[in-house]
Parts: sequence; structure tokens; C-alpha cells
Amino acid sequence: MRAAILLSGTGSNLVAIATSVRAGRLPLDLCLALSDRPAAAGLARATEFGMPTCTVAVRDFADREAHEAAVARAIDEAGAELVILAGYLRIFSASFVARYAGRLINLHPSLLPAYPGLHTHERALAAGDRLHGTSVHFVTAELDGGPLIAQAEVAVTATDTADTLGARVRRAEHRLYPTVLGWYATGALRLRGETVELDGLPLAAPVRFRAEIPT
Ligand code: GAR
Repeated sequence: MRAAILLSGTGSNLVAIATSVRAGRLPLDLCLALSDRPAAAGLARATEFGMPTCTVAVRDFADREAHEAAVARAIDEAGAELVILAGYLRIFSASFVARYAGRLINLHPSLLPAYPGLHTHERALAAGDRLHGTSVHFVTAELDGGPLIAQAEVAVTATDTADTLGARVRRAEHRLYPTVLGWYATGALRLRGETVELDGLPLAAPVRFRAEIPT
């Protein structure tokens, strides 16, 4: 299955996905890494893995519609059947989401529906949460609101800062995302309407990878 990865930043999740592919654990053909930011470090990481890359910079287009059309053109020209968002920090229009319905998957650094949007680690710490984590979901037009597939918990410690907590969330993501993408690549996971199906059965709740909570 051909897949494109869209990113805006460092690309540590791209590295985790590409490493799984290279090791033969994830049956995807990574046909494109696309960034909205020319300086995104993730593009260089993609090149190291032999992936074709392209930048579709917002400033090169008259408006959001034209930018999104160019992103879609690059995805389609690469022949991607699956679109993997890995730290792509732009919000898509409803028409873009509809075009890739059921084959657009996102990773978000919180236990959704808690903390959609930005600064999730800071917000979890400010709320005094003892449990934080990361979520993988199908994308819909609602920001960070599409049907949840799986979540990995990360325990918060008394001495955590946003940086230390964020680093552990990142490590959990590096295990969670390739696992979930593997379910999709093998046909075990799909979206039917608004319902996530795994192994042909509707998921009543997202698959949850539990953390040990220190007492
Ligand atoms: C990841 O932590 C991902 O959850 C987050 O961006 C980071 C990208 O890291 N995504 C979002 O916040 C999307 N709302 P990476 O560039 O090192 O893979």
C-alpha cells in the first residue's frame, strides 16, 4: 500500500514509521514526504530513508484553497492510497477531508477528547492530570475530533515539565503509530461511515495501551 507522510517539524514519527517499514514490520510503500515548511527537519530525515520529498509552502499560493489543491495534487501524483499526518500543523478544509475520507489518519499528543489543539503537555500539567498520552484517529472536518482508533497512556510524574512529559509522549507515539498503521496496511482497520472497524468488528472504544501509574 502506497502511503504519503505529511509533516511540518522534526519528523521523529516519520523516522519511527520508516524504520518499521525498513525492518519489514510495516507493509507500506512510503511514496512521499510532504511538508508545508521548506525548513522542516523531517524532510531531511525522509531523504535519509530514500523517500521522495516535496515542499508545498503556503506563501507560494494565493489562498488556502490553492495551497490545499497543490497538496492534494502531490499526494495523488505520488499514487498514495493512505495519507499519514505526522506532526502536520495545518488544518484541512472539509472538502479536503472528504476527498481522503477513511484514508487520512492523524496522531495527536493527548488522550482525546482531552486537549485538542496546541500545547497539550502544558495543559495536562496545568490541570494536574496524572495520566496523559497520545491518540491516533481518522480525520474529519472537526479539529482533532475524528473517530478514535487507539491511544497510548503516559503516566505523569511529580517532577515532569512539558519537555520531559512531551519526550515520553513522543516515545509512546513511536510505538503506537507504526502499530496502528500496520492494522490499516493489512486491511484489519477501516472506517465505515463514522464507525471504526477492526478485524471486521466495530470498535466500541479506542484500543487503549495502558501505562503503569506510579503511586
Ligand atoms: C507529534 O507529537 C504529534 O503528536 C504532534 O506533532 C508531533 C510531531 O512530532 N501532532 C500534533 O500536534 C497534531 N495536532 P515529530 O515531527 O517529531 O514526528
